[in-house]
Amino acid sequence: MSDAPAGAPVGGDRPPAAGVGVGVEHSGGDRAGLLAGRRVVVVGGASGIGLATVAAAADAGAAVAVLDADAAGAARAAAQARAAGATACSRGVDVTVEDEVAGALDAVAAELGGVDAVLHVAGVMRGQGLDVRDVPVELWARVIAVNLTGPFLVAKHAARHLSARDGVLVLVGSKAGVQTGSGSVPYGASKGGLHGLALTLARQLGPQEIRVHALCPGDIDTPLMRRSLDEARANGTDGGRIAAVEAALGRPEDVASVLVLLASPVSAGLAGTVCTG
Ligand SMILES: NC(=O)c1ccc[n+]([C@@H]2O[C@H](COP(=O)([O-])OP(=O)(O)OC[C@H]3O[C@@H](n4cnc5c(N)ncnc54)[C@H](O)[C@@H]3O)[C@@H](O)[C@H]2O)c1
Repeated sequence: MSDAPAGAPVGGDRPPAAGVGVGVEHSGGDRAGLLAGRRVVVVGGASGIGLATVAAAADAGAAVAVLDADAAGAARAAAQARAAGATACSRGVDVTVEDEVAGALDAVAAELGGVDAVLHVAGVMRGQGLDVRDVPVELWARVIAVNLTGPFLVAKHAARHLSARDGVLVLVGSKAGVQTGSGSVPYGASKGGLHGLALTLARQLGPQEIRVHALCPGDIDTPLMRRSLDEARANGTDGGRIAAVEAALGRPEDVASVLVLLASPVSAGLAGTVCTG
């Protein structure tokens, strides 16, 4: 049940508020670490893997901008980063709305004084356990909008800001899109599409020395995954199978540390798709 289940509406899927900005606040003092001097945007930084990534990037010395449909959650993540000594700001943005994506990236690029890395983590899981014959086209369209059109729009407008020479764009996909398939038809399809998008962007932006990766995690213990497991139970998925997934869940921090590594110039020699447990 890779990238297990969900089906119920996912919190943060619809933006509670957009364009809510929190100005950059500087912690002061020199900061050392793998991302010292780097300006990093985390899209989907209010929860789960994204939230852990904001903390890890701040810990590694980055100035961080947190974007998320959950504007309040993004603001909390930025506040935590500042409490840890980082420079951080946040904005509410629905990644499916081009004007919001363009405006948010323009705003944080201005606030941070440029952008060195964009880590696109936002995503939803819906349709877990539904037979393909029963998948409503509206459900399909929403998952594709968030998980595939979203990263396209983020890439489109991030490319205007990413530093040439050592800019980095990472799109978080899933093993469900490249290795295992998914319990959700639209989710598996969206993550396969994201993978092709990342390969294509790597080819197009590589000559401008902007490095593009797809990062494909396995099953990770996050709110998305917990909702998915609940949904699987409700849909009658075999309890033993669910228990096996639950017992093997990875930690968001372990994916976050790989994202930090990819955002760093020390990964200049890496290319293409990266999978994590
Ligand atoms: N948890 C897993 O097992 C797992 C495995 C492989 C891949 N992934 C992928 O990792 C990413 C993060 O997942 P997670 O498990 O941390 O989930 P999560 O639900 O904890 O976090 C996802 C974040 O994305 C935000 N978001 C959702 N829709 C949005 C929109 N339209 N615009 C802007 N932000 C939006 C949410 O508000 C939330 O903060 C997703 O792309 C997911 O598909 C997760």
